[in-house]
Amino acid sequence: MGYALAEAAKDLKMEVSLISGPVNLPNPKGVHLVRVETAIEMQEAMESQFEGTDLIIMCAAVSDHRPSVKYEKKLRKDEFPNRIIFKRNPDILKILGRKKKKNQVLVGFAAETNDILNSAQNKLKEKNLDWIVANDVSKNDIGFSSDKNEVTLISVDGFQMQIPSNNKSKIAKEILDAIYPSCLEKVR
Ligand code: C5P
Repeated sequence: MGYALAEAAKDLKMEVSLISGPVNLPNPKGVHLVRVETAIEMQEAMESQFEGTDLIIMCAAVSDHRPSVKYEKKLRKDEFPNRIIFKRNPDILKILGRKKKKNQVLVGFAAETNDILNSAQNKLKEKNLDWIVANDVSKNDIGFSSDKNEVTLISVDGFQMQIPSNNKSKIAKEILDAIYPSCLEKVR
């Protein structure tokens, strides 16, 4: 979805930075691409670009936890620990929500399997977002690892719009077309 959104934003003549975790997709043309591997690297990249950015869309499925020990080399069977301890990853979007200025538009995604709209609305408030894109990931043919998606776009002002199943590039275009006027209003 991130790659499709970057393309759609570029088509609207925006200057686009795409901060991407590991994916199997070609580099998009005309977009500043920053590749990261870990949640901490993603946080650093997002925070370093945040200040001068008018619209931030965060759709990466960042892991909420990471193993507390990182091994630099492969472990042999007899070296492997009996237990793996996890620690919390930063909630990047929540951190950005706290730093958000009046003229910035912050958009999050909510990948849900049940009680989709309520959970998305809670995240919208909790993370101080302007928009949230609710995504039902319980269906096999849309969302993760699929070229298709089907979402509901919700704004902090109560506007709600369902975008029916379509290619991710079409969905991305519809999301940006809906959000764009509110960006222009804030930036002005
Ligand atoms: O709480 P949940 O993970 O469902 O929230 C989803 C939103 O938060 C997405 O926009 C995702 O990119 C962002 N997120 C984040 N950092 C995390 C986990 C999620 O920025 N550690």
